[in-house]
Amino acid sequence: MADSISPVIGIIGGSGLYNIEGLTNTRWERIATPWGEASDELLFGELSGTKVIFLPRHGRGHKIPPSALNYRANIDALKRAGVTDIISLSAVGSLKEELPPGHFVIVDQFIDRSFAREKSFFGPGCVAHVSMAHPTCPRLGDALEASAKELGLPVTRGGTYLVMEGPQFSTLAESNLYRSWGCSVIGMTNMPEAKLAREAEIDYASIAMVTDYDCWHEDHDAVTVDAVVRVLLDNAEKARNLVKSVLPKIGAPRGLCPAGCDRALEYALITAPEA
Ligand code: ADE
Repeated sequence: MADSISPVIGIIGGSGLYNIEGLTNTRWERIATPWGEASDELLFGELSGTKVIFLPRHGRGHKIPPSALNYRANIDALKRAGVTDIISLSAVGSLKEELPPGHFVIVDQFIDRSFAREKSFFGPGCVAHVSMAHPTCPRLGDALEASAKELGLPVTRGGTYLVMEGPQFSTLAESNLYRSWGCSVIGMTNMPEAKLAREAEIDYASIAMVTDYDCWHEDHDAVTVDAVVRVLLDNAEKARNLVKSVLPKIGAPRGLCPAGCDRALEYALITAPEA
């Protein structure tokens, strides 16, 4: 096959997902990056013949809050470890009636309202503007959708993830504002993760696992950590099954990404090369 790529699948586990069961040949290894420390060591392993590298986003034991995550180090560590495709898992609040707790959303758009994070690998000296029009990889999305349906998981393909800074949850006015914008779910972590994956030319897909109705729903109490954790424990098992089921679909050697996710820098660099 021309441009044959042997995929290495990076799994970024969110709240409640601190390991992946069933991996063989495993080892935890710290990967150094010029951006500082990643959230934790990476767990290298294999599942169904596919190379898998797992990173617990908040560190084992959930020690790092969303604003303090070193997003650049996390993505760079995965890139240096050889990751070609990322499946990002995270807990979110729902902004739509039809996305109840327990539901999975294969996110395809983001609104980035985070403001206290380093968001680019580029800067003075080397300027790049990658396209974020389509921030997720449709090829990975297809595989996730097929697996979720095979497993009978309640899933919606497509949706907009509002990324808030946190760590406090939203006010009612904010929640209603995001609903009026047509957002599907709200969380604190997928940005700048998705932007940095694009800059690193790694195909990226996000599974948002709904844990609550945030604070806008009149028939539900406003979100609390307690409520989030209760649903999380249930979702974590489903998420692990989804990962196991999707790996054989995305692990075989393949050509370049039809959507160009793995060539994002081809037309993005604006700084003139030095003579
Ligand atoms: N993570 C889980 N539920 C959330 C919510 N309602 N807002 C922000 N992040 C969340």
